[in-house]
Amino acid sequence: RIVFVNGAFVPEDEAKISIFDRGFLMADAVYEVTSVLDGKLCDFAGHVARLHRSLGELGMPSPVNDDELLAIHRELVARNGIEEGVVYLQVTRGAHDRDFAWPEGLKPSLVLFTQARQIVTSPTAAKGLRVISIDDLRWGRRDIKTVQLLYPSLAKMEAKRRGADDAWMVMDGKVTEGTSNNAYIVTRDGTIVTRNLSNDILHGITRASVLRLASDAQMKIEERPFSIAEAQAATEAFSTAASSFVMPVVEIDGVAIGDGSPGPVARRLREIYIETAR
Ligand code: PDD
Repeated sequence: RIVFVNGAFVPEDEAKISIFDRGFLMADAVYEVTSVLDGKLCDFAGHVARLHRSLGELGMPSPVNDDELLAIHRELVARNGIEEGVVYLQVTRGAHDRDFAWPEGLKPSLVLFTQARQIVTSPTAAKGLRVISIDDLRWGRRDIKTVQLLYPSLAKMEAKRRGADDAWMVMDGKVTEGTSNNAYIVTRDGTIVTRNLSNDILHGITRASVLRLASDAQMKIEERPFSIAEAQAATEAFSTAASSFVMPVVEIDGVAIGDGSPGPVARRLREIYIETAR
């Protein structure tokens, strides 16, 4: 793979970052994942807008301007011949001798790489996901897309250990989101329910697009928290993320959702999302 690191396109085994980089030592870094379909970036403007928001919340400067960011994404997709997959981008505060406080004027690091992936024809999308619920023990600023991903990684491993595919995290009795996706249910009267935006969840770019498409298709939407019990009694459940688009969820804590197969609303939204992205 050709990757991008601090201004240069290089083979992945030649890319270098300092061991004193605060991204490595302190998880002092933010990231974005943008999907690629037919060689084209999906929802790119949304991902750039959220990157600026994350950087702003942490008082980090942007290492390059938006035109450069787009050019780097495009060149990386072309150089790696990515037709379908994702581009990962990370900005760290930069390198400095280890200290909790950082000096003014650190030079941020910028790293990007691609991952080829079958998103549209994913076999998991056809089968649907089995999820477990788990306490949400992350910090209180989940709206900032930082690389502090240890807890979600542990949650995902716990799901795998229990024979499931993912975990939905729960705070004060209500689902916040999946380990790396936003969570939804469909109630008996066909309303799509997903948690409202706040500091408790990541403001998903795919979430914004899918809700817009659902509303264009005259579907009813309610943005509010829901419980695992409500999800288990729902007719459908699903999740959204750039890396998977819309994923049907067919089981929660061993209880089948609806008839235990991907539901029509999730399948339709998945189709519409892919059509629109193409
Ligand atoms: N994760 N919630 C969390 C905690 C996430 O990590 C993600 C994305 C989402 C969905 O956001 P979006 O639709 O903008 O991708 C929600 C990325 C894909 C990842 O960490 O790989």
